[in-house]
Amino acid sequence: MTVESIDTLFVNFRIATLCDKATDYGRVEGMAIGVSDGKIAWIEPKESAVAASGTPKIVEGKNRWLTPGLIDCHTHLVYGGNRAKEWELRLSGVSYEEISRGGGGILSSVNSTRAASEEELLDSASSRLKFLQAEGVTTVEIKSGYGLDVETELKMLRAANRLRELNGIDVETTLLGAHAVPPEFRDRPDEYIDLVCKEMIPAAKDICTSVDVFCESIAFNVEQTRRVFESALDAGLQIKVHAEQLSDLGMAAEAARMGAISADHLEYLSPADAKVLAENNTVATLLPGAFYCLNETQKPPVAELLKQGANVAIATDSNPGSSPSLSLLMMGNMACNLFGMTPEQSLVGITRNAAKALNLNDRGTIEVGKLADFAVWEVESPSEILYQIGGNPCVGVYKRGKLVVAK
Ligand code: NIG
Ligand code: FE
Repeated sequence: MTVESIDTLFVNFRIATLCDKATDYGRVEGMAIGVSDGKIAWIEPKESAVAASGTPKIVEGKNRWLTPGLIDCHTHLVYGGNRAKEWELRLSGVSYEEISRGGGGILSSVNSTRAASEEELLDSASSRLKFLQAEGVTTVEIKSGYGLDVETELKMLRAANRLRELNGIDVETTLLGAHAVPPEFRDRPDEYIDLVCKEMIPAAKDICTSVDVFCESIAFNVEQTRRVFESALDAGLQIKVHAEQLSDLGMAAEAARMGAISADHLEYLSPADAKVLAENNTVATLLPGAFYCLNETQKPPVAELLKQGANVAIATDSNPGSSPSLSLLMMGNMACNLFGMTPEQSLVGITRNAAKALNLNDRGTIEVGKLADFAVWEVESPSEILYQIGGNPCVGVYKRGKLVVAK
């Protein structure tokens, strides 16, 4: 890389690289970041960089902090309607499982999502996505799962893919056809799984990169989940799983053995299975928003996961039911206060480890060769990024070196 080819130079930032093995947030001061073609071309002492780099565009940091762009690695951002009424019901003492067994819950969102046009889904998801983007999110994963028929699942995935062009943000799409048993297949879950394996996955395989399954007593069992994953792997797709959210069925470890890139929720994960995730390099994605909204008291085994060397990511799980959250920063804060993570572990969970949860090796840290996806913060120290509850200290977002949010 010659210095002449640098197109943008970021100077006078305090940088939290959040690199693997780095301590103190990977704190770097007095260095400039040279960006070429949307990637970090070099990180050099400021004086030599400015002198050597010709006439690139200069972005002046004014001593603000710069981190990798945030990554929300588990969302259900595309859906019709909302479930505020169910929230009221839950507050009056009816459980999430009871609502689900009574035909509400996910199935209620299925009705409104089937009724919505692709444009309507795109519009409502786009306004939700802007909240995330304003907090520094530069990559988001979006699942389908409120269609539960081939046509609507594809409609959701198309809308999710179109958000990429609309908002200047990277979108990773995941087919979650096995999210709940649809009304048409009531009492015939195995036949629905046949449809997911034989029709849905082949129809969706070119417009998504992963396949997810909700493995739980109110959704699909281990055997059904395994069948979906075998078809997904045969189709060349990655697998990830909603597991051990309400009970321990052992599916997180099973998915890890099958090569899952992440296992998500994990409140009921056993210590032995935490070890299996670590051994198989399956990222443990924790979703404090769902934990909070469902008034869960069983905490995921964070200390055991970290002790075993598992990569722990944090995400919003943004969805109309169990986590109507539009703030990844608040999730990062909750991961500290509710789950006992340090602010540094939590920040790594919404950057470096979130990238791993999506198997995206080109982002998540500030390192030469990685994408120039940056978030800029008006804070005194990196921990302050997650410190406020309901605030947003993000003052600039850069996607592939280009400004996409300015404040
Ligand atoms: O990740 N757990 C299953 N799926 C979603 C909830 C979906 C919903 O309630 O609409 C979750 O929490
Ligand atoms: Fe989820």
